[in-house]
Parts: sequence; C-alpha cells; structure tokens
Amino acid sequence: MRIPIIAGNWKMNTTVSEAADLVRAMQAQLAALTGVERVLCPPFVSLTTVGQIIRGSAVKLGAQNMHYEEKGAYTGEVSPLMLGGLCEYVILGHSERRQYFGETDELVNRKVKAALKAGLKPIVCVGERLDENEAGKTEEVIVREVRGGLSGVEAPTSLVIAYEPIWAIGTGKAATGPQANATISLIRRTVAQLYGDGFAEGLRVQYGGSVTAANIAEFISQPHIDGALVGGASLKAAEFVSIVEQTARIKKG
Ligand code: 13P
Repeated sequence: MRIPIIAGNWKMNTTVSEAADLVRAMQAQLAALTGVERVLCPPFVSLTTVGQIIRGSAVKLGAQNMHYEEKGAYTGEVSPLMLGGLCEYVILGHSERRQYFGETDELVNRKVKAALKAGLKPIVCVGERLDENEAGKTEEVIVREVRGGLSGVEAPTSLVIAYEPIWAIGTGKAATGPQANATISLIRRTVAQLYGDGFAEGLRVQYGGSVTAANIAEFISQPHIDGALVGGASLKAAEFVSIVEQTARIKKG
C-alpha cells in the first residue's frame, strides 16, 4: 500500500506574511485529514514561519530546491545542511529549474545524492517538453531523466518522483488521467530496472501540471498515480484542501 502524497509547490509566490496567512487559512482542515501525506513547499524565506505554524500537526514542509554542497562560497545558495533542520522534503530538478537555471540531469543527480546524505526526502521531477511529446520522444526523455537523476544512487531510503509534463505546467492544459498513468507506469518500470520490482511497487509517483480541485479525481483514480505536485491551485487554501480531501477519499476507496 502506497500512502498518497499531495505537495503544494508555491514557487516564487507569497511574502513571508502572505505565506503565514495562506498556511493559517488551510492548516486546521489539512491537519484533520488522514490517509494522505500533505506537504507544503513555500519559498526558502518562509520555511521557518510556515514551519512554526504547522509544528505539531501532521502537515509537512518541503523546500523547492537546494545546492548540493554542504557549505562554501556559493553566494545566494541554500545547502542541504541548512534545510535539514527546517524541512523534511525537497523538490529537485523541477522543470523550471532545468529551463531557467540550466539544471542538467547530472546536477540533479548531485542534488539527489546530497539530499539523501542530509536525510532529506527528495521529490525528483521529470517531464517532457511539448515538442518532445509531439515528436514521440516522451519515453526516451523520461527514461533518461529518471536514470540520470538516480545514477549511482543506491536504493534510496526515501524517494518520490513527480511526473510533470512541461506542456501541462501552468497552462491549464493538464494531461489526461490515462496519459499520465501510462507515463508513470513507465517510470515505475524504469525504477524497477534500477532497484527491483519490490522497490518500484512501493515507490510513490505524483502527477503535476495544471492539477485543480476539478480534475484531481481523474488523476488520483488511476492505479499508478499516488498523488500530485500542485502549483497554482496550492496558493488557494480552499482548493488545496479540496485536492487533499478528494485524494484521501478516493484512495481509501
Ligand atoms: P501548476 O499546477 O501551476 O500547473 O504547476 C505545476 C508544477 O509545476 C508543480 O510543481
């Protein structure tokens, strides 16, 4: 049995006080739901504040990125050791990091290793661009990103993979449930080749890309989809709560 996991990626939104308001608006309802892991990923500068507000509840905290070195002369960067005391999860290799900040599979791989070493739980993002999708290259891209991100990593103590087709992010044009399920099934097969069937069976894979309260049911009712990485809709308290609530209900069956 895989415990579903819904994570809210707030991206570069909310000031510290807006982040506090947002988490206060959803915290009681989120905390009351069971059977689904709930993770909030605010900007770095709000991790402490949001962490204080959710402390003692079952709601968890994640970062959106990190450097792979533990410390050093890397102006503006945040290290795994710094996050270690603050949060449990870290999103790595998000397509916006790959697209706007030049992150490669090799860099993502270094970050995955560093996160695991620091006891952080990586949420590794993979996904194809529209042109790759249209050229029939989805499988090739996904296998390359999964293998590249996990290269040289021993069966990880904790791992979540998020399948986020780039053409579906922030566009309002989500994949269909069956489409996402098929690619996530491929991700599971790829991970099985690395770590064996048992590991792949237990691996949680999220779908991300224009997930809303109106379409979450379509994704979460698919057998291979274990949750969602939610962008825009995670900035609306009632909508995010609804996404978590529907996931809990549908996965309980
Ligand atoms: P949207 O839900 O806004 O499409 O963003 C998805 C995403 O990138 C989550 O990491």
